[in-house]
Amino acid sequence: MKNNKKQTNTWNAENYRKHAGFVSELAIPVVDLLAPKAGERILDLGCGDGILGLEIAQRGADVLGVDLSEEMVSKARANGLKAEVMSVTDLPFRAEFDAVFSNAMLHWVREPELAVANIARALKPGGRFVAEFGGAGNVHHIVEAMRTVFARHPEFGVFDDFWYFPTPEEYAEILERHGLDVTSIKLIPRPTPIDDIAHWLAIFTNGVTEHLDEAQTAMFRREVREELKPTNYTEDEGWVADYVRLRVRAVR
Ligand code: BEZ
Repeated sequence: MKNNKKQTNTWNAENYRKHAGFVSELAIPVVDLLAPKAGERILDLGCGDGILGLEIAQRGADVLGVDLSEEMVSKARANGLKAEVMSVTDLPFRAEFDAVFSNAMLHWVREPELAVANIARALKPGGRFVAEFGGAGNVHHIVEAMRTVFARHPEFGVFDDFWYFPTPEEYAEILERHGLDVTSIKLIPRPTPIDDIAHWLAIFTNGVTEHLDEAQTAMFRREVREELKPTNYTEDEGWVADYVRLRVRAVR
């Protein structure tokens, strides 16, 4: 059984900026779908270092960013965003926001029903929820490579692939169950060039390897990288992460 209370990852803001800056750069179409208006109150769930929240604020909205990582919230504040340490599973807000926005965060949440219930409750009637995160098939090769390496090393224990990558149908049902009308929802395959899968693994899989010692973690990353060469690396393009995004807009 999955442990819903486990912190799924920890974040190093500097490494994230250096090797995962593409996460916010590629999300401008999601901000466009949000279409923030001057004077609106918008909640940015999983604000990270605040780059997208600031983009939304630049379009005239009053933005509050929330994130589970203290380090990321400090970075967001230093970057000029109003931000608080908070989990989507503990949101205290009731009918306060014109919109709730989230990029590349909801696949980390093991309790999607609770997250959506809290999001719906935070919205004013007529308010909108616009999000993008990993959908069905996301990072399939990467996850399978991790599974293979864990299977090869019984001493690593059980592979906990805690990410939540729903189909549009599955997620639409959850949204509707919590009183949100889905106006658009789709899967977008988006193979994404990255600098080296070693950096990606170091940033995004420390929750997977937290019980391993240093040597085992290094072995895990080295072997996953080797496993992925045939599917995710070419001389011409370098490393490509097999992202599939689920992009959604729903209205309370
Ligand atoms: C994603 O953004 O799709 C993602 C990032 C890290 C791990 C899993 C998924």
